[in-house]
This record gives sequence, C-alpha cells and structure tokens, in this order.
Amino acid sequence: MSEDQRLEALGDWRRSDYCGQLNARDAGRTVTLMGWVGRRRDLGSVLFVMLRDRTGEVQVVFHEHLQGPLWEKAGNWRGEFVVAVRGQVRERSADTVNPDSPTGSVEIVPEKVRLLNTSCNTPFYIRDGIDVDEALRLKHRYLDLKRPEMQKAMLLRARANAVVRGFLEERDFCEVETPHLTRSTPEGARDYLVPNRREPGEFYALPQSPQLFKQLLMLAGMDRYYQLVRCFRDEDLRANRQPEFTQLDVEMSFAGEEEIFSLIEEMLARLFGELWGVEVKTPFPRLTYQDAMDRYGSDSPDLRYDLQLQDLSEAVAASGFRLFSGTVKDGGVVRGLVLPGMAGVSRSQLDRWEEQVKEWGARGLLWFAWDEDPSVGTAGVRSPVIRHLTDGEIRRMARGAGADEGDLMLVLAGERDDVNRMLGMLRIRLARQLEMIPEEEMAEFLWITEPPLFELNDEGALTSVHHPFTAPMEEDMGLLEEDPASVRGIGYDVVLNGQELASGSLRIHEQELQERIFAVLGIGPEEQRERFGFFLDAFAYGFPPHGGIAFGMDRMVMILAKKQTIRDVIAFPKTTAARDLMTGAPATVSEDQLEELHLRLRDKS
Ligand code: AMO
Repeated sequence: MSEDQRLEALGDWRRSDYCGQLNARDAGRTVTLMGWVGRRRDLGSVLFVMLRDRTGEVQVVFHEHLQGPLWEKAGNWRGEFVVAVRGQVRERSADTVNPDSPTGSVEIVPEKVRLLNTSCNTPFYIRDGIDVDEALRLKHRYLDLKRPEMQKAMLLRARANAVVRGFLEERDFCEVETPHLTRSTPEGARDYLVPNRREPGEFYALPQSPQLFKQLLMLAGMDRYYQLVRCFRDEDLRANRQPEFTQLDVEMSFAGEEEIFSLIEEMLARLFGELWGVEVKTPFPRLTYQDAMDRYGSDSPDLRYDLQLQDLSEAVAASGFRLFSGTVKDGGVVRGLVLPGMAGVSRSQLDRWEEQVKEWGARGLLWFAWDEDPSVGTAGVRSPVIRHLTDGEIRRMARGAGADEGDLMLVLAGERDDVNRMLGMLRIRLARQLEMIPEEEMAEFLWITEPPLFELNDEGALTSVHHPFTAPMEEDMGLLEEDPASVRGIGYDVVLNGQELASGSLRIHEQELQERIFAVLGIGPEEQRERFGFFLDAFAYGFPPHGGIAFGMDRMVMILAKKQTIRDVIAFPKTTAARDLMTGAPATVSEDQLEELHLRLRDKS
C-alpha cells in the first residue's frame, strides 16, 4: 500500500455536513464530508465521484489540471471505499443540474481528501431497485442495509417508534419492560424454549406476547402501560410473519372499548399524519366479524376498493334450478362478485378463475354476463346456466347484486363460511389482477369487532381465537357451555388496507369467569394450576376492569414504507425457514454446552 493509501485515523478531520443535505444555499461554503464512494464516472481528465452517507449523496468533481494530486488519489478509489472530502460547495451550471437528485444543483470542488478505509468489491450494487436474490442480500445484510431504500426504511421505523412513544407518553402511559425469560403464554403458536443450566429438565419460554404481565401490571395499579416489545413465536412464516417481531403493546385500566378505540384512532391519525402527511378519517368504520365475512369474505378486508360479496340467496331461493334452491334450502348461500364493465371477458379467463376456486375447494364457478341493460330482459344475458333460470330470477339477481349493462358476475353456491372464504380470496385475486387497488397513499383503517371467542382447531379441539383472557360478550354468556362456537368476545382488530395490524380485547377480571373459560377450553383444574396458577392466584387481589391491544409494528412500518414483506423493515430478519443467513443461526452447539444444559441429542436418524 502506498503512503497515500495508508489507512489513517480521522486525525483532526471532523465532519461538518451530511452529503444529502447540501443544496444551492450552501454554495461557497467549505465543507468536510465523510462517507462511502458510490458511482464513479471517469472521463479521463475529469473524474466524478458520488459520495454517499445516510442522508443521500453528492457529486465531487476532480479535474486533472486543477486538482492534480487529489485527482490521482481519487483515481485509486473504488466503490465503497470510506473517504473524507474537504472542499467548496459550488452551484452547477444550468446544463449540468441533475433534477432527479436532491443535491443535483450543487457539486463539491475538493481541496483535500483522506482515505479512511478500503473495501472489497461488493457481491451486489449498493443502490436501489437491484434485482438480486434475497438470500444474497440477507447473507450480506450489512451491505444490503447500506442501500438508500433500506436506510430510509430503518429511519422510518425509528421515526414511527418515536411518534407512538411520544403520543402515549403524552397520554400518561408508562413504558414497563417485561421479561423475555419466562413461562409459556398462550397466543396459539409454539414456544421457543431456553434450557435451565441450574436445574435439569427445566425450561424458560420466550414470550409470545407480554399478555399476562401487562394484565398483572393493571392489577399492580400501573393504570396505563405500553411497551415496544419483542415477541417470539415458532410458527409457519410468511411475508408478514417473523419468528421474532415487535409489538406495540398497550393496556389500560378502568377503560371500556370506546376509550380504547378513540385513543388508538388518535394515535394512528398522528402516526400516519406525521409520516405520510395524510389526514386519517376518524372515527374508523366498524364492522362486526360476521358482517366482514359476509360482505368481504375476510376478517381483514381491504377497503381501498369496494367489490363486496353480493347475496343472491333470496333472489334464487324458490328457483327451479336445484343447485341454487337446494343450497339455500339446506342452509347454504348463493353469493357473487360483480365486476363492472367486464362482461366481455374471455372464456379462457373465466376458466382460469374457475380453476383457481376449484383449487380452494369449490366445485365450480358460475358466471353471468350482461351485454344489455338487465332491466330490459334476459336476451342480453349470457351464462352457462341460463336455461335453468327464469327471466324474473335473473332480473332479481341483477337487481339484488347491483349488476348493470356490461357487468360480469361470478357466483358460488354452497355452505356460508366456505362461499365467503372462497369469494373473499377471489376478491383479493381479482383486485390485484384487475388493478383495482389505488397506488396513492391511502390509509383505510377499520375496526373488526365481536369476533368469535372460540374456534375448532385442525384436531377438532376447541381453542381460543385470540387468547383465553378475552371477555365474552354479556349477551352470549349463557351459551358458553352449550354452544361455545357461537359465543362472541369483546375483542377488536385494527385492519389497514387488508392487513391485520392489531388485536385486542377487554379482559376477564373475575376469577370465576376465567376458570369457566379455561374449563370450556378443556383445561381442567389441575392443568389450570400448573400452567396459570400464578395468574389465577392474582385474581384474589382484585383486578380492575381493564383492556388493551397490541400492534404488529413490523407490519405497520411495512405499510408505511410501502414494502411487500416485513423483512424489508427489519434490520436483521430471518428467512421463512426461520434462519438468519448472516450469522448462520440456528446452529449446533458444542458437546460441552449440551452437557452443561443437561441435554443429550437423540440420534437424528
Ligand atoms: P396477537 O397475537 O393478535 O395479539 O398479536 C398482535 C399483533 O402482532 C402482530 N403479529 C406478528 N407480526 C409479525 N410476525 C408474527 N409472527 C406476528 N404474530 C402477530 C400482528 C398482530 O395483529 N396479546 C395479544 C394482544 C392483546 O390482546 O392485547 C396478542 O399478542 O400485527
């Protein structure tokens, strides 16, 4: 390495400005910048170097005849070298202004430069919009995080955290940290376990959420609690799930649903107002769980587009067409989706949609295309089942569904929950395919209320939809033992643009009811004591009525940053196989460590 390239410490060099913040008002100032070498354009006697830091980049111009020695030094710089540049900010001439760059009206005329460190060639370009395998990005995450769009996402995340913290602090909420080494909390996923070195066969569980702790903090009189907290769940991962993720967890005493709703609405209006500059309409619309399923076929509907499920059951209940009338008679439904102006769609497209719903479990997909005004007659209607239906029935269907000339209607008949589910998935598929989702920043929040308290899991056992601490609705209390599946909870979700962002509920605050719920879930007295003894004991000391909610911060920031996956807003995320490709975790451990933890591995074979 030559004298000039020798790596030196900062010496008396100190940064005066950030690259991305310079503009024409700085012209004439001498600045000291530090950062990374980005794109370079070498025109022989003139060398342009983009210098980049967290805020953006600025162009430095080296002329052979003006800055000879510096020009020579900079000639050896390669991408991602760490350098310092001292020089004068100069306004660019009109013909060289770059309108696409925030610093495009200025450039730096260097007076002194300093090489601070070198770098190897990076395995991908440090720039936005690169088309690189995500595995490579994750393996070299520290390089991926240098890319401006990733830096922006990280800064946005920090800003979102600061805004919600500020808001809750203003409202007298107190942040309390709860343990990570604890007992299992029932949120429906598998636990991550940590063996206890001190006692063979014992394990801590990493919390799936701080649910029990935050409730106990209410008993303890903390009144208003919040925490930005890491949660751990060993579950099947998707684009919006990670094995460790961050919740904004909130709980308040002496509050009913309305206080919680208005607090959260104000918080979200502040957050989206500050970060997106949009005005969030409050109060948010509310839909009961059942209405959401009936109208959108989803418990987290995207309201940025309409496309509601239309119920045709009544219109066809008395039809001679057995598929329709028989379904309705057996307690099922006939429902459809109306696609405005799509009557002319091709048969092959209709076939593809049918194939899709068949994959989801439907027997077939019916369709009606109105080439003419539906009120005129049925001459202008096409459908594979047209001959089974009377003119009146078809007219009633069109009227009931709001179909008009030029519209297409896709129809499913069957059991209510199945039809809702499949039309709900089709609704999303169609909205994407037909580009019905507006691209501009739009925050369509809504509350989903009155969720079922219980559901049957794959093994046919009753489990909590949310968690077993949600209070049942007063009017359904009598059904707890005899028809638990129809009991609704005092629970609520916040949904934004088709994503469940948050879930919460009013909690059970009386021991008797809590034990009753455990019993309905088939958790007998012994198991209750074993798993939740500490919690049940606390009831003796009087819980205040309380309730709360928890937001998935990763999901919220993903939407704010307009990313497709939460991995893009998490600094060091894991893959969908729960692996960290950078550190190589999870990894095997030494025999000694296993020994110390009193663990022996079973033969893998
Ligand atoms: P819940 O289990 O619904 O409720 O979780 C609350 C919110 O956390 C987010 N979330 C996740 N985000 C990323 N990866 C995951 N694996 C993941 N799992 C959940 C979602 C979800 O809406 N204790 C209750 C809350 C309460 O009742 O106050 C709870 O944890 O955005």
